[in-house]
Amino acid sequence: PKILLLNGPNLNLLGRREPGLYGSQTLAQIVEALAARAAELGLGFEHLQSNAEHVLIDAIHQTDADFVIINPAAFTHTSVALRDALLGVNLPFIEVHLSNIHAREPFRHHSYFSDKAVGVILGLGPKGYQLALEAAAERLKGSN
Ligand code: DQA
Repeated sequence: PKILLLNGPNLNLLGRREPGLYGSQTLAQIVEALAARAAELGLGFEHLQSNAEHVLIDAIHQTDADFVIINPAAFTHTSVALRDALLGVNLPFIEVHLSNIHAREPFRHHSYFSDKAVGVILGLGPKGYQLALEAAAERLKGSN
C-alpha cells in the first residue's frame, strides 16, 4: 500500500515561517523522516507540496495511493474544491496541522475537511505527521 502526503500553501517556508508557531524544522527534514519511516513500515510514499489549489486537486485525481495524509494549510479554511476532490476519489485521509488551529484566530477554527477525515491531528508540530503515518499504517495493514 501507498501513502500520499500533501502539503498546502506556504508550507514550503517551514523553518523560517513564524517559527514560534510552526517550529524550526524544514519541510524537507520532515518529509525525509516520514519517507524513512514509511520504508520501514513497508509502505510506498509520495510527497507533494504546492501553493496552487489546482495542483493539489490534480494530484488527488491522479494518485494511485491508498491513503492520504494532508495538511491543507490555508486551504483548510477556504477550499470546498479540495474537499470535493478527496471525496470524489473516495480516498481516506488524515488531516494534520502543526499548530492548534482552535487556539488561533476565529477564521482558522473551521475546517472544510475535518468532518470527512478519518482523524485530525493538531498542535503537535511535525510530530503530528509521524503520528498520522503510524495511524495510516495501522489502517492499511492487511490491505497488502
Ligand atoms: C496550518 C494552519 C493553517 O491555519 C495555516 O493557514 C497554515 C498551517 C498548520 O499546519 O498549523 O498554513 O495548516
